[in-house]
Amino acid sequence: MSDIEINSVLTENRLFEPSAEFAAKARIKPEDYQALKKKADEDYEGFWAEQAKQLMDWHTPFTRTLDDSNAPYFKWFTDGSMNVSYNCIDRHLAENANKTAIIFEGEAGDTRHISYQQLHDEVCQFANALKAKGIKKGDRVVIYMPMVPEAVIAMQACARIGAIHSVVFGGFSADSLRDRIDDARAVMLITADGGTRGGKVVELKEAADKALSSGCDSIENVIVLKRSGHDIAMQDGRDSWWSDAVAGQDTTCEPEWVNAEDPLFLLYTSGSTGKPKGIQHSSAGYLLNAITTNLWVFDLQDDDIFWCTADVGWITGHTYVAYGPLATGTTIVMYEGGPMTPDAGRFWKMVEDHKVSVFYTAPTAIRALMKFGDEYPNKYDLSSIRLLGTVGEPINPEAWMWYHTVIGKERCPIVDTWWQTETGANVLTPLPGVTATKPGSCTLPLPGMDVDIVNEDGESITEANTGGYLVIKKPWPSMLRTIWGDDERYVDTYYPKFGGKYYLAGDSARRDEDGYFWIMGRIDDVLNVSGHRLGTMEVESALVANDAVVEAAVVGRPHEVKGESIVAFVICQGERPVGEDAEKMVTELRNWVGDQIGAIAKPDDIRFADGLPKTRSGKIMRRLLRTIAAGEEITSDTSTLENEAVVAQLQGKA
Ligand code: PRX
Repeated sequence: MSDIEINSVLTENRLFEPSAEFAAKARIKPEDYQALKKKADEDYEGFWAEQAKQLMDWHTPFTRTLDDSNAPYFKWFTDGSMNVSYNCIDRHLAENANKTAIIFEGEAGDTRHISYQQLHDEVCQFANALKAKGIKKGDRVVIYMPMVPEAVIAMQACARIGAIHSVVFGGFSADSLRDRIDDARAVMLITADGGTRGGKVVELKEAADKALSSGCDSIENVIVLKRSGHDIAMQDGRDSWWSDAVAGQDTTCEPEWVNAEDPLFLLYTSGSTGKPKGIQHSSAGYLLNAITTNLWVFDLQDDDIFWCTADVGWITGHTYVAYGPLATGTTIVMYEGGPMTPDAGRFWKMVEDHKVSVFYTAPTAIRALMKFGDEYPNKYDLSSIRLLGTVGEPINPEAWMWYHTVIGKERCPIVDTWWQTETGANVLTPLPGVTATKPGSCTLPLPGMDVDIVNEDGESITEANTGGYLVIKKPWPSMLRTIWGDDERYVDTYYPKFGGKYYLAGDSARRDEDGYFWIMGRIDDVLNVSGHRLGTMEVESALVANDAVVEAAVVGRPHEVKGESIVAFVICQGERPVGEDAEKMVTELRNWVGDQIGAIAKPDDIRFADGLPKTRSGKIMRRLLRTIAAGEEITSDTSTLENEAVVAQLQGKA
């Protein structure tokens, strides 16, 4: 297998059956699972059509389920019309108007409970405010907000009027924000005077102003939420306060009935080139899988309190905060702030205070909190929790066991959910009342998901523990539709192999003796830092944009908490910096990358040399760089290198 690196193969024999207590009350019981699987196997389109009819409210019912006439640009439910916001809010009002939709907690401890009726009213008011500013169906609106209810309200308001939102994570820099605004030609930006994290104010408006002054000529209006109370600059004619924009607006707003295929949102994510790509999602297909997975995987029931800790700037915050759980009429928790504020007990205190019953977070958070020992979780009453989930990266068995014993008290199933920005919703995951779990495995495909592992020729690998390409063989409702403005890149990225028949996930995986899937890593130059995707090329482009840098290569290194950390090998103009000069340059370049992309992209380690190790044909030897970054012994022959001497420099030995 040419470009697949086989990582170490772990054997995991521990098997955890769902507890009888959980299984008895679960929505999906083993017999339901079998029935769903059977139906999907026998009549794939019929299966999804049935789910779409049962789980969503349609304005115009669809008659056509899957249109694959222009594959791989698949369409679902194409002649149907509906509205996502209506499905998330209005349809609950008859019976559940007073049910809490959102429990919000700020870092300082301030809380707000928002009922479905209030959510409806605020979404409508804001939707009317957007309309008053000229926003119409199909316009792009960028949302750059802290993790406060207004972020969800803004998303829902866009959905209500058929505008396409693009949420940019608040941790991204001004330059990243500008690039995303420009790529989408967005006409409006919604932001805040600042958010709070770890006791510090995140200067969102300041970054927004910087972005707007360096490009973004498509932006006509900026709406600013007052959150931090910080002094900020407001530009006359362009900027208005959220409170002024909604003042006097009606609390009803007829939903725009959009076509099933009309885009709901764009979400930019990293790929193997320097430029992030705008993943384009549909309205109906996306929402359908947001609903099926919230019901099947998170087993959401009427009295559940669901806390998914993801920021709305990531796909997880779309599908498991802003859309899916609302569409199922669930009460969600939102938290603006850091997990360590004031101490490592914050999450567990919030679980106790809000009686969280379903908790979904990233392995990196679990590992970070685990380091503080059992004392913090043991201080709080975690008995409300009945189900735990993880997402974003492989979870190491040690962290899984800690989650299972110390947080779940050995009672709660853990759903390790594999999926991607592009898939829109969970793909490989246990069903909590059905699937026996193994620490570190995302187990099996959901019903209706045709996932396989194939070799270079696209043939299914049936041999246990043999790595291959993770592919999805049939289109599914919540799959991305294209890359915004770049249809060609969509095909080149996701359907480049196997005669264009299968969706290529970009991960390598293996199946064990029980057919369970184990994700082994990416096959492209994408890093996973604290569960966040970053392209090595993206960081390299940022580095070489600095005048002092001639060339840079970026690789990942295994990291105890973050999963992977970033190591950069840099060639500077003139003399190679050493000693104090090198230290200064490291600080400068780290801050530079922070400004170019965002703090998450700052390399942990930057090393300087006179050149990069290259083959005689001029290819950078990335594998060798990874070995050097990990501090491992170099076993390969380096004598074929064009410039062997630089290896010692990069190792810090010369
Ligand atoms: O490599 C896989 C890893 O995260 C990638 C997707 O990243 P992103 O689009 O940012 O979405 C993250 C949240 C869905 C995948 O290609 N990944 C995600 N979940 C898992 C995972 N790797 C192993 N196990 C998981 N559960």
